[in-house]
Amino acid sequence: MNAIQIYGGKRLQGQTRIQGSKNAVLPILAATLLIDGTCEIENCPNISDVRHMIRLLESMCCKIERQGQTVKVHTGQLSHCDMPSDSVCVMRSSIMLLGALLARIGSVSMQYPGGCVIGSRPIDLHLQGLRKMGVTIEEKEDGFYAETKALVGTYHRLPFVSVGATENLLLAAVLAKGDTIIENAAREPEISALCEFLIKAGAKIEGAGTSRLVIHGVEKLYPITYRIPADRIVAGTYLAACLCSGGEIFLKEAPCIQMQSIIRVAEEMGAILEESKDGLLVICYERRKALSKLQTDSYPGFPTDIQSAFLTALTVADGRSIMEETIFENRFRIVPELQKMGANIQVQKNVVIIDGTERLQGALIQAEELRGGAALVLAGAMADGVTTVTNCHFIERGYEDICFDLQKLGIRCQKIDYPVTDI
Ligand code: UD1
Repeated sequence: MNAIQIYGGKRLQGQTRIQGSKNAVLPILAATLLIDGTCEIENCPNISDVRHMIRLLESMCCKIERQGQTVKVHTGQLSHCDMPSDSVCVMRSSIMLLGALLARIGSVSMQYPGGCVIGSRPIDLHLQGLRKMGVTIEEKEDGFYAETKALVGTYHRLPFVSVGATENLLLAAVLAKGDTIIENAAREPEISALCEFLIKAGAKIEGAGTSRLVIHGVEKLYPITYRIPADRIVAGTYLAACLCSGGEIFLKEAPCIQMQSIIRVAEEMGAILEESKDGLLVICYERRKALSKLQTDSYPGFPTDIQSAFLTALTVADGRSIMEETIFENRFRIVPELQKMGANIQVQKNVVIIDGTERLQGALIQAEELRGGAALVLAGAMADGVTTVTNCHFIERGYEDICFDLQKLGIRCQKIDYPVTDI
């Protein structure tokens, strides 16, 4: 079943619970490698990126048990391993294993990580930072070998904000000798979650949630139980579904505090939002207003991961919107698919100009990456007639069951068989 068929054009009504965060759980699973013993990770989303990360951990002799939403990771005796290349290459988060493995076993051989086709996504900041901490890295065409006798704390100032590089250096630093300072660190809530996990396990970290992290290396970390916070990007996607189709929905456990930039933009477009400790109520009956300028940015700015979903909603807004992507250079890959549905969009490098139209028409369209794929499903939900979104394995990287969630919000959709199209 690799496609989603949507019968669109209906207003939304209903509620759904927001799953655990993909971008929080992946580095935390990597962080369990730093700990000798068994960690329990609760509220772990059952998405394909997590299944790949588990496979990678198993390839290092970790034992993994999943009981419902809880994943137990027994690290025990770690070993040098052959990481399955398909799991390394399918997601960029496999690079998170680098800092943790260097800290635990001192050497790593791996292929370059993969991930979404949304830009070049190099790993130079990760490698430069680790070299400064005493790691020798031999780069080859398709991968690299990294080795260290001992990681040593040092001073880093990231030339630009990188979520992954901040996390990798953090993972390398917690067991390093001495102190590490990371300036211009990313401030994404998922980094705060990683810090919270590590601190609970015995790490000494100051400045969690700020752009200056100070890590005092410790000898050892201890097994813990940790609950993964709700996924702000999944919650933002469903909020955007309501902006697209109109209606009234409740997103149970949506992490409202982490969603402030998304909430503000939705309000600017004319939605009414009510935040509570139980979740987020979204009400949207008027035609959406266009946005004179929306720009993605690192946290607390408007997330690049939500850009496609809002771009989709703006295709039916009243007037002309302008959106600028500042993080990844190749993140408008859904535009030709939306154009097939009647959307009026022009791309000028990293800027899109969207002239809102009254309605989109159902079409056969193809997902090419995770967040863009989810946005195409939202487009189908608001379009007249039937839309089929193919290549939905991309969406399964980050959404446990987007069809089930959208059905709970009143959308008529189903999974169907469709051949995978290689891109
Ligand atoms: C993480 C998120 C991803 C999100 C992105 C930006 C996870 C698993 N993924 O990705 O969902 O879209 O943050 O919020 O948490 N860069 C370099 N060299 C490096 C590292 C990054 O040039 O060594 C560039 C990237 O190409 C990109 C920018 O820095 O243009 C930001 O990337 P980064 O924050 O590192 O993104 P990821 O950690 O890959």
